[in-house]
Amino acid sequence: MSRFPSVLLTGASSGIGRALALACAAPGTVLHLGGRDVSRLNNVAELCRARGATVHEHAADVADAAAMADWVGAVGRLDLVIANAGIGGGSDDGAPEPAAQVRTIFATNLEGALNVALPALEAMRAQPPGADGVRGRIATVASVAAFLPAPGAPSYCAAKAALDGWTVATATSARAHGVRLTSVCPGYIRTPMTEQNRFPMPGLMDADRAARIILRGIAAGRMRVAFPWWVAALARFTGLLPPRLSGVLLTQAPGKQALPTT
Ligand SMILES: NC(=O)c1ccc[n+]([C@@H]2O[C@H](COP(=O)([O-])OP(=O)(O)OC[C@H]3O[C@@H](n4cnc5c(N)ncnc54)[C@H](OP(=O)(O)O)[C@@H]3O)[C@@H](O)[C@H]2O)c1
Repeated sequence: MSRFPSVLLTGASSGIGRALALACAAPGTVLHLGGRDVSRLNNVAELCRARGATVHEHAADVADAAAMADWVGAVGRLDLVIANAGIGGGSDDGAPEPAAQVRTIFATNLEGALNVALPALEAMRAQPPGADGVRGRIATVASVAAFLPAPGAPSYCAAKAALDGWTVATATSARAHGVRLTSVCPGYIRTPMTEQNRFPMPGLMDADRAARIILRGIAAGRMRVAFPWWVAALARFTGLLPPRLSGVLLTQAPGKQALPTT
């Protein structure tokens, strides 16, 4: 059995979520895996079953608050919930992001994560502590983008900043109720989200290695896991600069590709 006997994870069909699911999969472990792409989700589930885990798949949109609350409320005891699902998006041409893109990013990366974390927090507060005295652990996957307002990806940075801020600020009161909260802030990770980037990605890391770092930090009860440390430190420093200066610096760096507007 892995160190987390019962895990619910969104965004399990790809990238970091896929790597987290595989890292948690072990005999005696129950995994509840979420995503939208049924065939990719099924593929990850099969790989986890081959490692001995019991796997339940759940195809749904994290932006559907009622569906997420029903899912989290129905699965029984949860030792770990990871709100990982998210989308990238930005603007390369210097124009403001399209309104539809702004709303989709906030609905997925901020509200979508809260749609899972909030019912999980409520459910965990009511469940008995495990052998380690912890009732449950919740991680939200933000980004080092939370630390800096990049003109190339305004909504992405802002949604991740809000998610990181909410998670870290809630972690203290949650801890008093036996629940550990962790904000996960990765730098560049090699996944389908970053494979289209045509600019240098300092500190680019494999998803399997990222998953190990994330799970170690969650197990240690850290309120924030930001890595690689030097990328996080650079982002923090840039975010502390006067906005006009950081805006100029970050505009020199290319942004992410805009989302399709269909
Ligand atoms: N890769 C990086 O460099 C990096 C760095 C920092 C933070 N992050 C964050 O890490 C998380 C995972 O990113 P990734 O790089 O692994 O990206 P990815 O490979 O594109 O995977 C994204 C996952 O999120 C799911 N998802 C997206 N929108 C969803 C929605 N509305 N409802 C349900 N599931 C949805 C996708 O499921 P379907 O495909 O099945 O729809 C997929 O499983 C994101 O929150 C991202 O912002 C990534």
